[in-house]
Amino acid sequence: MEYAIETENLTKIYRDRAGKVVALDSANLRVPKGVLFGLFGPNGAGKTTLISILVGLQLPTRGTARVLGFDCVKQSLEIRKRVGLLPENYGFYEHMTAYENLEFLGRLDGIPWGELRRRIDEVLELVGLKEWANAKVKTFSRGMNQRLALAQALLKDPEVLILDEPTLGLDPQGSAMFRELMTRLVKEGRTILISTHLLHEVGFICSHAAFIRKGRIVAQGNLEELAKQYREARGYSYEVVVQERPEDLLRELRQLEGVVEVGLENNTIRVRASRDIMRELLGVTGRYQVRSLRERAPTWDELYQFYHGGGWGE
Ligand SMILES: Nc1ncnc2c1ncn2[C@@H]1O[C@H](COP(=O)(O)OP(=O)(O)OP(=O)(O)O)[C@@H](O)[C@H]1O
Ligand SMILES: [Mg+2]
Repeated sequence: MEYAIETENLTKIYRDRAGKVVALDSANLRVPKGVLFGLFGPNGAGKTTLISILVGLQLPTRGTARVLGFDCVKQSLEIRKRVGLLPENYGFYEHMTAYENLEFLGRLDGIPWGELRRRIDEVLELVGLKEWANAKVKTFSRGMNQRLALAQALLKDPEVLILDEPTLGLDPQGSAMFRELMTRLVKEGRTILISTHLLHEVGFICSHAAFIRKGRIVAQGNLEELAKQYREARGYSYEVVVQERPEDLLRELRQLEGVVEVGLENNTIRVRASRDIMRELLGVTGRYQVRSLRERAPTWDELYQFYHGGGWGE
């Protein structure tokens, strides 16, 4: 499989007077083409360092990184042409307007004038800053600055978007706008890498993710692949919705081999098991009046807790 982003044993060691900090420790990240990919990890995990290397702003100490097949050290100009970056902190020219800032950045990227004007109008509209096009950036709030940073990342209509904490400072409408925009851009065939620890805000729109901890990628894949390891360690969860009080059904469920816990809340029976018992559940529930039976997949939040707090990969 050809990946949009691929790193091999990527290592970054910062050295300062206090000693050395291993920010990335043999990280192997694989982002398939055309997906919305989350890079999830707590503060200091190495997200920004990894992103900086991908776009050529930092050099790795060891290992390699490629974006769209281009080497991040030797071919960073090719990468810059094709990648839109939203960095952790974006500094605009405060005395210039939003429009002028984008014009300046677009010219630096070599976008021809005619196309540039059209693109600036488009991206300002997309991020909801159209009315503010001619306002000076020094009058912008933090969220407006973040919207402009997103507009800047979209300006060259990039094949790959790399966004470091993109929803920081956005209000709920801004967050919703962001999620809709990302979902649409990925449908159009782009690849998007989003680093964040705010899973409730952006996590759930991702189809794939990597969990980064202390500079290592401890797990990665699509939701199904990541859920598999979770289930093997934490067990399987099911929900059975019933119509009437199901004393006999509860008793039968408790007797199934592998069942760890059976609980009843209103009309829903929750079953936790150490193995996959879907087949047995279908058999048992078939003899009762049940409205529905389903396996409950873990959420990104549960996966985050699992891969970061649950002793995974220590
Ligand atoms: N320029 C630097 N010099 C020295 N150490 C650094 C430098 N930049 C980052 N670090 C260290 O490298 C580690 C990873 O930092 P990084 O900024 O990549 O983490 P992050 O996952 O982006 O965190 P956050 O969620 O807070 O943005 C941290 O221990 C940090 O202190
Ligand atoms: Mg960071």
